[in-house]
Amino acid sequence: MDLSFNQKSLEAASIIKASKYLVAFTGAGISVESGIPPFRGEDGLWSKYDPQVLELGYFHQNPYESWVVIKEIFYDFFGSAQPNSAHKVLAVLESMGLLKCVITQNIDDLHQKAGNTIVHEFHGNSQKMVCVDCHAHFGVDEVELTPLPPKCNHCQGLLKPDFIFFGESIPTIAYQESLKAAELADVFLIIGSTGEVMPANQVPMVAKRTETTIIEINPEPSRYTSHITDIYLKGKAGEVMTLLLENIRKI
Ligand code: APR
Repeated sequence: MDLSFNQKSLEAASIIKASKYLVAFTGAGISVESGIPPFRGEDGLWSKYDPQVLELGYFHQNPYESWVVIKEIFYDFFGSAQPNSAHKVLAVLESMGLLKCVITQNIDDLHQKAGNTIVHEFHGNSQKMVCVDCHAHFGVDEVELTPLPPKCNHCQGLLKPDFIFFGESIPTIAYQESLKAAELADVFLIIGSTGEVMPANQVPMVAKRTETTIIEINPEPSRYTSHITDIYLKGKAGEVMTLLLENIRKI
């Protein structure tokens, strides 16, 4: 890491420490070091699987075919993932009273597993299921995932993971709480997101409108980097967040 990186990370640490309302906005990149591949990029999930399995219309017409891929990606593969040091640092920042909330595009439940208690899940959560017929909700541990497609314990209707499919609207409360936090933030961390997906990618723009300092962590520049980012820390979330916490504790 070059000198300018260390200077920038010290500057970012002092800004975070002095923040009045720190918010973290996370994307798939924060979970890569937990073994969960991102959606985009050369090893991204969408380079291996057809995203149509997460289109609402396709799911209703082809529940079995859709569920075969959904189970493979989000339950067989994601199921054993654990929080990495980046998730853990965000939990420490909450326990220090610095971090007010996490807004995440991720559905992997890793922020909650790491210990964060205020997490706005913009795209829902894979640990919850909903019946498309009677709208009953279940935890993933309460239902049988095989045989596919899984059926509702109450009405034998089709179960769907309670995360957002393409074509589905964002959960209202998560949307409203995310926008409110973005408006209140004086320091806004963007960790591991391309900024390519609407409407999630509008949340950091809302933060920027209110003179917020944007600190971005990503090994590659994103759509935010040259547009709204004030301090760009080029690197992996786990390493950079660990360094930031060390610097915060030294100040
Ligand atoms: N640390 C931090 N960032 C990383 C790391 C890492 N170790 N590895 C990769 N990244 C970055 C990539 O450079 C990229 O910018 O994470 C980002 C992953 O991009 P996407 O897969 O597009 O993730 P995201 O921006 O969260 O996608 C938004 O797209 O398919 C939908 O619902 C899905 O929530 C997802 C949404």
